[in-house]
Amino acid sequence: MATDTRRVIVDTDTAGDDAQALLMAATSDRIDIEGVTICAGNVEFDYEVENAKYALDLAGVTDSVTVYEGAREPLVKDYYHADYIHGEGGLGGELFPDTGIPSGDRHAVEYIVERARANPGELTLVCIAPLTNVAMALRREPDLDELLDEVWVMGGNVNCLGNVTPAAEYNFWVDPEAAKIVIDELDVRLFDWGLTERDTTFGAETLAAIDDGPDTELADFYRTITASVREYNESQTGEQLVTHPDSAVTAALVEPDLIEEAGTYYVEVDDREGLTRGYTAVDEN
Ligand code: BDR
Ligand code: CA
Repeated sequence: MATDTRRVIVDTDTAGDDAQALLMAATSDRIDIEGVTICAGNVEFDYEVENAKYALDLAGVTDSVTVYEGAREPLVKDYYHADYIHGEGGLGGELFPDTGIPSGDRHAVEYIVERARANPGELTLVCIAPLTNVAMALRREPDLDELLDEVWVMGGNVNCLGNVTPAAEYNFWVDPEAAKIVIDELDVRLFDWGLTERDTTFGAETLAAIDDGPDTELADFYRTITASVREYNESQTGEQLVTHPDSAVTAALVEPDLIEEAGTYYVEVDDREGLTRGYTAVDEN
């Protein structure tokens, strides 16, 4: 194991891009996944749980990494999936066989709080889902910010268009009350939708190379789980493209030099219902 190994808990609503993030983290010797927690988001909850287990199984780490089931719905708002993007089941439209791997014996929120208390200053929380579990953990342990090393979040849209509405990105839009709590109370490293679109997109040329690429289990898994998002993006833009919101976060954890620029800003999330639900107000001035 590398000496600069970072210990992480990954909070995920496992669909295709989350599965890539888990695979990247699980196969890197710079990241040690302590546990995986599941939050209501992309697709039906039970699919998310199985998808996470499937990805961890592919990476061969299910003996050491347990999946803990968390919030099955947002704090306040009605729940909307994004299976129109990720396909039925969340992994590109193909339904994979159940792994038969049991879930952890505790609720995800209890797990996060317990691990943070037992390892003060040691753990990084990697949040690639709506922030329901994290907000609930904060309510249970108000000192979570001090107990964790860092909190990395994929979510929000910093002064750019969102992906689910013009005003908002999916993770913040699904549970804006939770996003507001987390952004208000935790010191967060935010990877937003703007960064996703600008810097993590694979276009036609890259995708063609991947299509003609290696005949391995992982390469084949990538092609399968991105099929639906490719189709969706083509119908929306007329172009071949795949974005990598969640795996970009783990890529930066694996290789911190990928981060060329970062700034510190005051951020607020709009939790009201209506046109600006989930909007991230970032004062870049
Ligand atoms: C985010 O929303 C989800 O659909 C993806 O998994 C990602 O976490 C992108 O807006
Ligand atoms: Ca996600």
